[in-house]
Amino acid sequence: MRHDHLITAKQLSREDIETVLDHAAEIADDPAAYGDRHAGTLLGLLFFEPSTRTKMSFETAMKRLGGDVVDMGSVESSSVKKGESLADTARVIEGYADALVLRHPSQGAAKMVSEFVDVPLLNAGDGAGHHPTQTLLDLYTMRETAGLDGLTVGIMGDLKYGRTVHSLSYALTNFDVQQHFISPKSLQLPRNVRYDLHETGAMVKEHTDLEGILPSLDVLYVTRIQRERFPDENEYRKVAGQYSIGLEALEPAKDDLVVMHPLPRVDEIDPEIDDTHYANYFEQAHNGVPVRMALLDLMLGGEL
Ligand code: NCD
Repeated sequence: MRHDHLITAKQLSREDIETVLDHAAEIADDPAAYGDRHAGTLLGLLFFEPSTRTKMSFETAMKRLGGDVVDMGSVESSSVKKGESLADTARVIEGYADALVLRHPSQGAAKMVSEFVDVPLLNAGDGAGHHPTQTLLDLYTMRETAGLDGLTVGIMGDLKYGRTVHSLSYALTNFDVQQHFISPKSLQLPRNVRYDLHETGAMVKEHTDLEGILPSLDVLYVTRIQRERFPDENEYRKVAGQYSIGLEALEPAKDDLVVMHPLPRVDEIDPEIDDTHYANYFEQAHNGVPVRMALLDLMLGGEL
């Protein structure tokens, strides 16, 4: 299927995902071979929310393909401050760039903008909605470490507001993967996501404790409580600090458990895990570059 834009992981078939991951693996093997591939191409960066990894890895990816970026910069220094609408901002920047990457605090923002622009638009996070490019690097990391089919995956933390979780859970339904969701009751999956997952016939279970399910997991994907999305700070305080793991908590786990996290972490994973064989989150972040190179190459070439 040909995609004009990448808005949600729901639009990606297994074949689409494998095309991106295979291409990312080719690029990771010989990145220099792609150094001139998109010389002269400009990627427009529209980030209305903080970002380190996503923005910098998109920028690195575009530059490693021989292109460059034009960056709207911070909201504070842009015309958004003067009251310009998101649609207008995007329509202007599409005139400067060959593709756009958008991160925005409002759920549905990327979908809305995609109706106004003709160049490829990549959703880099829309509020508590979706984050499909993160999902591609998550899947790449899983495939490299644990293999993708026949897996039992635990996804723990803020499942309500965590957009990486929503995108990942949709994408995993394309594979033979059992999904276990671990969270406090107040941060369980949104009803619509749960409904969609059940509709696909995916093997999905929800838990409030990690302990019981941990020994059967091949991958544990830990997420940050999304403090900035809580309408009430008191509600955040009730759940802050819960669902953090240290080395001792991992004792009952399989020896080859892969621990992942989209980062940034706050206190969900004790740094004592960082130097153990469980930790894969820094490699996961590094994989953002070959995966985004692959995605940009395929989308700019009209091959995805
Ligand atoms: C995530 C995001 O922005 O949703 N970060 C990222 O892109 N790696 C996760 C988070 O902020 O918790």
